[in-house]
Amino acid sequence: MSKPPSSKTQWNPATYLEFAAYRARPAEDLMARLELRVPGAIYDLGCGPGNLTRKLKDRWPDRAVIGTDSSPEMLAKAEKSFGAADITWRLSDIATGTPETGTPETGTPETGTPETGTPEAPPALIFTNAALQWVPDHDRLFPRLMAAVAPGGLFAMQMPVTGEAPYHACIKQILVRSPWRERLAGVRSDQVHAASAQRYYDLVSPLAATVDTWEAYYHHVLKDTAAVTAWVSGTALVPYLTALREDEKAAFLADYTDLALAAYPASKDGKVLFTMRRLFILAERKA
Ligand SMILES: C[S@@+](CC[C@H](N)C(=O)[O-])C[C@H]1O[C@@H](n2cnc3c(N)ncnc32)[C@H](O)[C@@H]1O
Repeated sequence: MSKPPSSKTQWNPATYLEFAAYRARPAEDLMARLELRVPGAIYDLGCGPGNLTRKLKDRWPDRAVIGTDSSPEMLAKAEKSFGAADITWRLSDIATGTPETGTPETGTPETGTPETGTPEAPPALIFTNAALQWVPDHDRLFPRLMAAVAPGGLFAMQMPVTGEAPYHACIKQILVRSPWRERLAGVRSDQVHAASAQRYYDLVSPLAATVDTWEAYYHHVLKDTAAVTAWVSGTALVPYLTALREDEKAAFLADYTDLALAAYPASKDGKVLFTMRRLFILAERKA
């Protein structure tokens, strides 16, 4: 009965945007460090509802800006919110570098484009925030993205470090609880736990003139534990929610909140600190 997960994963822009300001913080911290020194377009890979793509365009109005995502729902929301007059929205899978519309993958990293394979000039910036954790095989992906950037251009990414995150431990716990163990048997998430900064450094540095990498913890003050569930339901729980029927989702989320109550104890004022550890890489391609 389970719907297949993975590429059919149904992202919900409204749920994702509920915490838009908090989710934007790390991206804004990364953007603050960007300085474009070479000509070329800007790609926002896994652009989601397009808020950050819009910020990139506002910062560099003279550049072509392309927001790509594998979710038609996210792209529809992006285009609805920001129009298509000055930003190009593209259905595209970061994993294959090929638009899901069926355009054959003809490009190589050397031809420059990160995802279409068309003979466009290589981008001055490949930006990607909170998306690469959904793409497998980082050992190939990171060098490929780095190689796609123009000489002197930037690869800038942020991704959550989730291996030890309590909200992921809660997911493991709910997946072995009845009835979800039976109901979600066979459903898998594409989410990848980030490797170490050292690992990514070794993947991008062969093509980089400079690499700036850091991690930060963001302690988001949420109103209660249900808000933790609401946050996670917009990201890490998406593959499982996709596989459930509408009438099952509320019970699943209530059970998740039960688990999260222990993992995220309330503060004295009742609010909950939801901590996200995030890894940043800002690498300049060798000229
Ligand atoms: C957590 S959201 C981040 C959205 C946006 N970058 C932001 O920071 O607000 C992750 C996004 O990655 C997209 N995504 C997941 N896997 C993808 C893939 N293989 N190719 C392209 N986009 C993908 C999802 O559709 C979703 O919009």
